[in-house]
Order: sequence, then structure tokens, then C-alpha cells
Amino acid sequence: MQKLEVLGANKLKGQINISGSKNASLPILAATLLSHKKVYLNNLPNVKDIETMINLLQSLGSKIKFNKKKLIIDNSKQNKKFASYNLVKTMRAGIIVLGPLLAKFGNAKVSLPGGCAIGSRPVDIHLKALSKLGVKYKIMQGYVHATAPKGLIGSKIHFPKISVGATENLIIAASLAKGTTILNNCAIEPEIKDLVNFLISIGCNISWVSKRSLKIIGVTEIKETTYSVMFDRIEAGTYLIAAAITEGNLKIRNVIPNIIKTEIDILRKIGAKISIKKNEIRIKGNKKIKNINIKTAPYPGFPTDLQAQIMALLCKASKKSVIKEDIFENRFMHVAELNRMGAQISTIGNKALIKGNTKFAAAELMATDLRASVSLVLAALSTKGKSVINRIYHLDRGYENIEKKLKMVGAKIRRVS
Ligand code: EPZ
Repeated sequence: MQKLEVLGANKLKGQINISGSKNASLPILAATLLSHKKVYLNNLPNVKDIETMINLLQSLGSKIKFNKKKLIIDNSKQNKKFASYNLVKTMRAGIIVLGPLLAKFGNAKVSLPGGCAIGSRPVDIHLKALSKLGVKYKIMQGYVHATAPKGLIGSKIHFPKISVGATENLIIAASLAKGTTILNNCAIEPEIKDLVNFLISIGCNISWVSKRSLKIIGVTEIKETTYSVMFDRIEAGTYLIAAAITEGNLKIRNVIPNIIKTEIDILRKIGAKISIKKNEIRIKGNKKIKNINIKTAPYPGFPTDLQAQIMALLCKASKKSVIKEDIFENRFMHVAELNRMGAQISTIGNKALIKGNTKFAAAELMATDLRASVSLVLAALSTKGKSVINRIYHLDRGYENIEKKLKMVGAKIRRVS
């Protein structure tokens, strides 16, 4: 099992280029199943979850090859409709192949994702909404057996709760349904807008009719496309917080600053000096870190995927802060590990009370999930001495070349087996 050794405390200085978005790439890769024409994808991040999704598509019969940084997908002979547990269990976004498979073939057998460290990850909203398009489904032995006897028929659907994955599954499914589908109360994360733009690029007829409503008119003709995936806003936010926690001075490039306005505003309130150019953000950390109360929320609110990272930063604030995790039911696995480094964080339900004024002490730590593990790296970077972070396979799921990027800006970090 690999681990990371981090020798802190160093002020990070220099420039970091942000990779393509994992959470935009995954639904876009699933959406390629709609097409029997070639799809050329650029800017995919080289992370484990993308590799898993590529393996899942290949298990469904997709022909995929890499040509330099470009992925070439040919689904002209893709004809399997079975997505197995051993691939979906490690990457819950695998459920998003259900919509495209139903749209293309009218039947599919897809493994339920199963839970993970941050929550039970149900898919009831996906399934109820798909049934509105005429899908019949049964759950047997951990698999969704779904059929659409008359094909998918457009309908009006209101999501009872904002769900990124359910919104993505339905957008893709409705793209080939007969007639018009209206989706209300959609998630509007930038990754969803990227998915919509990708689908339009292959000939789908999708338009935003209001802030959280989409109109999708099913099409029959699909085109070849070349598409570049958007930047990873969570990776960008993570490195902004890395600059703030190490009192560093970083230039973050290949970003669209306006997309992470909420995070920038919060970091400014905490005391970081931030200036913005067209596709880059310069951030200077401040010695004095101000406390702030944060509630995670669907976009454009503060992202749950940055909750663990901002918690590490707020441990060093001069006064106490409160973080309310309103999206997932168990996303405080990093609290125990931060407390082992000397933080004083207590949790009551979905609220974490961070005492502040923490002088972290280096320690041996355990990563539990993707974002929790990077919060431990951030804490270790700002701490004198050598910390060791175990089970870093969690990190590799979503951060491309993290040691290389951090070393380039002065971090003393190395991977050991
Ligand atoms: C996506 O997960 C992201 N994953 C998550 O990022 C992110 O944290 C999450 O959206 C929220 O922004 C990808 O995009 C691959 P949801 P998803 O459906 O689609 C409940 C990361 O670190 N819910 O918006 O699974 C659910 O349990 C990952 O990159 C139902 O109850 O999130 C959760 O409490 C972690 N029934 C809430 O809704 C359903 O059918 C939001 O889930 C679906 C979801």
C-alpha cells in the first residue's frame, strides 16, 4: 500500500496548472455511449476514476484509444448492456451509464453503486425519474434490471431533491427519448453545463429554460465531435487553500475564475489576498487566518467537495468556526485525523465545531476518502516535521500528479511504497 511522506512546513511559491475536471469527464464519457460516431476528447485528467470509467466503457464494448493527450472513443460496435459491480463499486459515477444504455438499447443491467465512506449514495432519484420516461426497473442481487418496452418517451420531471448524478443521467437519457422532456429542479454544477455543451456538440437538442430547468427534445441523428473538458474547479479550490494554509504565494492557471467565485469570496474573507486575470488566479496566504462559518450547498453554494480542505485551513484561524455539511450524511471522516494532528474539532450531527488556533503536529495519518485525504496533505504541508499519509489510493482517484504539482511549488513530498 503506497503512502505519502510530507515534510512541512514550507510556503508554497510558484505556478500550478489545473487539470481537466474529473466530475465533468465522467458523465461525458458515459454520454459517449449515445453515439455510434467517433468522439475525440481532450483535457481528460489522468486519474484513477477516469481509468475506471474507461474500463467500464470497454467492458460494454467501446473501442477506446489514446493518442497523445486525446482520447478516441468508437462506440459504433458497442453492444453490451451489463455494467458489473466490480467496476461500479469503486466509482459510484458508474451508475451514469444506465441512462445512455436505456436510451440506446431500451434495456440495461447496471450494478447499484453501493455506499462509500461519505454516505450510502442511493440512486432512488435517478430511478424514479427514469420511470417517468417509461422505464420499468427491478432491483435484484444488487443490480438494477431496467427496460423501456416502448423506448424512452419524453416527459415532465421535477427532481424532489437536487442531485448532480440524477440530473446527468436524465439529461443523457432524454437526449434520445421520443418527444420533449422538461427537467425541473436540476443541479446546475458547472460540470453539468459542460455535459450539456458536450451533448449539443454531438447534435442533441438541449436548452436551459430557466435557472434550474432544462428542455430536451429527443434527436435521432448524432454527429462526430471533438470536445475539451472544462477545468477541475475542486482541484483549483484545493490548491488555493494550499496557498492559504501555507502562507504561500501561488499562481493557479487554466481556470475560469468566475466559476469559483464563492470559494474566492470565502478565501478573501479568511484573509487571503487574491487577484484575478482571464484564466488565472494569484493568491497570497495571510499569516492571520480569520474564522468563518460555512454551510455546504449545491452550486453556486460552497461545494461539499472542498469542505474537508477548508476545515484544515480553519483549524489555523484565530477564533472558532462552524462548518455545516448539508449534502452528505457522513463527510467528517477527516475530523478524527485532523484531531490526531492537534486540531480541536467536535461534531454534532452534520455540524463541525472547529476551535481554531491549532498548532498542528506532524503525525502518521489515514486517508479515508478522496477529499479527506487531500485535507490531510494540506495540514501536513503547513506543519513542521514529517507526516505520513496512508491509503493514498483515495487521493489518486481524483488528483492528477499531486506530488509533482506540489513539489514544483516547493513542497517536500514523496510517495513511498
Ligand atoms: C456528485 O456526486 C459528485 N461526483 C460528488 O463528488 C459531489 O460531492 C456531489 O455530486 C455533490 O456535488 C461526481 O460528479 C462523480 P448527488 P453525486 O446526487 O452525483 C443524495 C468527489 O469528491 N441522493 O448530487 O453522487 C445523496 O446521497 C465526489 O469528486 C439521493 O438521496 O451527488 C447526497 O446526499 C464525491 N438519491 C445528495 O443527494 C439519489 O438518487 C447529493 O448527491 C441521488 C442522490
